[in-house]
Amino acid sequence: MQTFTLHNPLDMHLHLREGDLLKAVLPFSATPFSAAVVMPNLSTPLSTPALALAYQAQITALAPHFKPLVALYLNEELSKESLQSAKEQGLFLLKLYPKNATTNSAQGVSDILSPKMLEILDIAQDLGFILCVHAESVGFVLEREFEFHPVIHTLAKTFNKLTIILEHMSDRRSVALLEQYPNLYATLTLHHLTLNLDALAGGMLSPHLFCKPLLKTPKDQVTLLELALKAHKKVCFGSDSAPHLLATKHTCTCAAGVFSAPLLLSGLCTLFEKHNALEHLQDFISTNAVRIYRLTDLPAKTITLQRTPPNLPNALLDGQLIIPHFMPLEWSVLK
Ligand code: DOR
Ligand code: ZN
Repeated sequence: MQTFTLHNPLDMHLHLREGDLLKAVLPFSATPFSAAVVMPNLSTPLSTPALALAYQAQITALAPHFKPLVALYLNEELSKESLQSAKEQGLFLLKLYPKNATTNSAQGVSDILSPKMLEILDIAQDLGFILCVHAESVGFVLEREFEFHPVIHTLAKTFNKLTIILEHMSDRRSVALLEQYPNLYATLTLHHLTLNLDALAGGMLSPHLFCKPLLKTPKDQVTLLELALKAHKKVCFGSDSAPHLLATKHTCTCAAGVFSAPLLLSGLCTLFEKHNALEHLQDFISTNAVRIYRLTDLPAKTITLQRTPPNLPNALLDGQLIIPHFMPLEWSVLK
């Protein structure tokens, strides 16, 4: 049987949620991945170091061999002292949610270029934080990432010592920014690499593939895929796995988020093999992130996959949480 081995897989953008949902989804990430960047957009956003550290400790208690790198929810109340204390206690990521851009972003930042926010970012830069950005305007849905480019230009130029991550890059026009700014990087999701708008709305509507940023055109998909397949130095893997219960997915309105955690390693292996790029998967899923985020002390994990389709459940939590099988899977993780 053909096998493939990965060392210390990293998911640099992950939603783990709270309560029963956290307990149900965490094993899918904590078992195969060494570490993950965990998003702070909980029902009460993780807007203080104390909240972020308590959440980090809760995850560690549930999964001792997994390193959750919890991001602090960027907001106007963060003082120099609180940022200093956060850094001393091991937090090093800030997440920028533009106000009302996505799930639980009502307390996000209304103007990232305001004098107050620029002052906070200046302190963050001096302290060596990394800024993770949900890079979308609140304009027309297909143009949101592109419309956000002026903000990225200003941030990357003004804070040229600050590492900035354009999260879940979805628009091919963003690639030029990566080339332009040495301090700018991007995460790429499995769904934006494998799907385009047709999967969401080309036939029957697929609520489980509705996410922000929205899936885009085949040309966008191909451009992102090319970056991933060669493990371009400015990109790394970040799934943006974002579980929502059926009660919020299957109503007249539908929450944004693709719950991809259960299929990530199988899916990436299948995708990279299909394009004869398996030799670059290690860099895409681990080495690039270690360099970009300057990671140390990762729990050592060696994950072996074998060339046989996995047996994934269709749903969890008594059917309340659907696992969308959005691509063929030809590899499975060996237990
Ligand atoms: O699709 C998304 N879901 N995009 C986000 O930015 C947030 C996430 C969530 O928290 O559900
Ligand atoms: Zn996200």
